[in-house]
Amino acid sequence: MDCVVACSNSHLLGSRLAEALGAPLLLVERRWFPDGELYLRIHGEPEGRVAVVQSLWPRPSEALLELLMVVGTLREKGVQRVVAVVPYMAYMRQDSEFNPGEVVSARRVASLLDGAGLELLVTVDMHLHRFSSPGELFRTPVANLSAAPLLAREAVGRGLDEPVIVGPDEEAEQWARMAAEAVETEYTVFEKRRVSPESVEVRPRDPDLVRGRDVVIVDDIISTGGTVARAARCLLEAGAKRVYVAVTHALLVQGALARIYAAGVSALYATDTVETPYSKVSVATLLAEVLGGRSPQLPARRC
Ligand code: R5P
Repeated sequence: MDCVVACSNSHLLGSRLAEALGAPLLLVERRWFPDGELYLRIHGEPEGRVAVVQSLWPRPSEALLELLMVVGTLREKGVQRVVAVVPYMAYMRQDSEFNPGEVVSARRVASLLDGAGLELLVTVDMHLHRFSSPGELFRTPVANLSAAPLLAREAVGRGLDEPVIVGPDEEAEQWARMAAEAVETEYTVFEKRRVSPESVEVRPRDPDLVRGRDVVIVDDIISTGGTVARAARCLLEAGAKRVYVAVTHALLVQGALARIYAAGVSALYATDTVETPYSKVSVATLLAEVLGGRSPQLPARRC
């Protein structure tokens, strides 16, 4: 990789990535015109194979526009090989037309990025529930990396007592499994059980596994914190000793932190895909391994 261009949501992670790659760092300056339009300026001369880093949080729509405009500018200036590094890929949760007329944002955002002429798109723990792989959404080759092993090692490395990993819903099983493998322990997930025609109960698949043990809840996103808070309460009621949370993208909106700690969570660990005071785990090395071509998580190239 010949240089790293860090867009405005990812100056810190971009600088870590540039350092890990030993590549020059170019910063994108973002300001606003008086009417609210974006003013963007790339400082420096990008050349060769360029990585553009932009997390789509905060202000996901504006962040996406900034990314597309920066990539478009590089392509117009003759940069042939542009890799977009989107540590947090927003808009993936509206992945179906649940009600008639709803726009399937995941498809529309994928289509916009496909139109940008990228060589590769690198992301972390993309929210894929109704699509089994990024290839069902994107024509661009995508490397979808996971921070679950790094997060689990960070949480468990703090000296937990007989740690066990829990996914707060069935969709989180993929991350729970990877986390458990990384720290060589067991995992379980919460699942929905229909208890009557009218009601559904949410409970751990294997409640006995958590009794008397420290639990690490592993998930991709905390938005409002409702999912994690509900899981934490239930685990403590089931006899868990302490509950920790390890999440890749800590968006933490609408009082999420208060909700999580009120539920009895002992500590929260997150990555720097989104920059928060809880971003204790950096994904820079993970990203650098892929960009340097040394990662087993690289996607197969399409013909
Ligand atoms: C859901 O499928 C996701 O994996 C997260 O569990 C969810 O988006 C978290 O949202 P919230 O924090 O608002 O419960």
